[in-house]
Amino acid sequence: MDLHDRMRGVAALAALTRIAVAVYDQKTDLLRTFIHSSEGDAALTRYVARLSDVPSLAEIAQTGHPRVVDDISCYNGAREHSRRVIEGGFRSSYTLPLLNHGRLSGFLFFNSPEPGFFSPCILHQLWPYAQVAAYIATMELDRIHVIQAAVHTVIRISRERDDETGAHLDRMSRYARMIGECLAESHTLSDEFIEYLFQFAPLHDIGKVAVPDRILLKPGRLDAEETAEMQKHVDKGRSIIDMMSDSFGLDQVPHIEILRNVVSYHHESWDGSGYPHGLKGGEIPIEARITAVADVFDALTSTRPYKHAWSNQQACDFLQEMSGKKFYPPAVDALLNNPSMVEAIQKQFVETQFD
Ligand SMILES: [Fe+2]
Ligand SMILES: [Fe+2]
Repeated sequence: MDLHDRMRGVAALAALTRIAVAVYDQKTDLLRTFIHSSEGDAALTRYVARLSDVPSLAEIAQTGHPRVVDDISCYNGAREHSRRVIEGGFRSSYTLPLLNHGRLSGFLFFNSPEPGFFSPCILHQLWPYAQVAAYIATMELDRIHVIQAAVHTVIRISRERDDETGAHLDRMSRYARMIGECLAESHTLSDEFIEYLFQFAPLHDIGKVAVPDRILLKPGRLDAEETAEMQKHVDKGRSIIDMMSDSFGLDQVPHIEILRNVVSYHHESWDGSGYPHGLKGGEIPIEARITAVADVFDALTSTRPYKHAWSNQQACDFLQEMSGKKFYPPAVDALLNNPSMVEAIQKQFVETQFD
């Protein structure tokens, strides 16, 4: 963070060693670490908590007032978050809510290893920087939401005639995030990457808007010519993203290539037998490999006009069988090894109606 470097250039703020943003998901009440700027801050990545379980943050959200904690160790490590902040070498904190038109979108944290660092005098100097940091963070989250809203509108319109439901998108994006979290360490995926993957995964089939009704709505199996037409949804999706990129200035959005890759490569197979490019193994971006597993697992376990829902066991057997062929083995393993998380997601996002 450029801003962080500038702030530390101000002598009085040199001991401000960490700035972090946690993003809040209204639908699940979950708070996740998103971006941070600090040295050796691994202790605080991939932190997830339910906001209602952290009363001190819930209070900040409710009142809209920032909070200073002079010595985090006074919490005695009672909460995992405090414990990890202390382990990270930090003693004091200053926390601001990120509010977007009155709605909580996350929190901005400032930390220092010095107890009592955030004195009234320091806060006075920090204030303008904190405002800018909060503004930048809110804008960034806002920007993603605007793009998402635009794309979801397109999806909603297209769903009038599509075979995929909102619950499918809710579930598959959460499977993708879960897989991303499992692979984070071995594949060095940052919290930021995983959050963008979660935000963008639901857009994988955006190109279906451009598939003709007679194919998209056909109740039975597609013949060869129809299948070829259906498969064009990938290239069409890519063109839609490029079009949006021009009109919304998407190229400014960090990690926008995750969206492009998810849309462009979610039907590629690990063994090279997928479409449209026939990419193989590591040629396929990791975000697309993860999305493919998340998407197919949910499609199999969902009811569609032309098929019954498979049981989780049947779908897992299929993934296992296709692991190393269609699917990236570590992504399959991540999903298979977390049955209780899968069930929790399924319980939370039940199909309300078939549209
Ligand atoms: Fe697709
Ligand atoms: Fe899908």
